[in-house]
Amino acid sequence: MHIPTLTQARAYLDEANRLNPGPWHSHSLYVAEGAKLIATRHSDLDPDAAFVLGMLHDIGRRCGVTSMRHVIDGYNFLRDEGYADSARICMTHSFPIKDTQMIFGAWDCSKDELKFVDDYLANIEYNDYDRLLQLCDTIALPSGFCLMEKRFIDVALRYGVSEHIVPKWQKYLDLQTYFSEKIGRSIYEVLPKVVENTFRF
Ligand SMILES: [Fe+2]
Repeated sequence: MHIPTLTQARAYLDEANRLNPGPWHSHSLYVAEGAKLIATRHSDLDPDAAFVLGMLHDIGRRCGVTSMRHVIDGYNFLRDEGYADSARICMTHSFPIKDTQMIFGAWDCSKDELKFVDDYLANIEYNDYDRLLQLCDTIALPSGFCLMEKRFIDVALRYGVSEHIVPKWQKYLDLQTYFSEKIGRSIYEVLPKVVENTFRF
């Protein structure tokens, strides 16, 4: 996989944070850290690649305060920079289930752009980097890692629930089990300060 160097990824993230500062920046760093910690114990993943992909998964936020179009903006940005196969992480991280209607937020893009996302997802097979970033995206708050179930409620309170919510929760729980089995222990054992982040008030 052709991915940016750590130095390049940091430069992209810093630039994006200058263009659109927000809690997404700190969230991205925790996603990177979590992905690296899990990948370190996974026999088929490169921890440094996981870290870089974690840093860049929300790089579409560089284009401003948007909703779901950040996946398209991120994909286009990395593809145009010459990292077409890293760009996929911008697209796949939001879709543990390949269904563009299963989203939190809204599709603030054109019909053609939405069709592009649909077609893109339909034509790829997820790999363990895609799955790892989907998992880490959902357990990393801007303040650190927390129990997935807490995050579910947090998001439901902010966005409300639809008929898609239970299958989506189930898929994330399946990802948690999948990676816990891959690394031979609970993912929460390798992530720092889960207890503090989950139970502080
Ligand atoms: Fe994210």
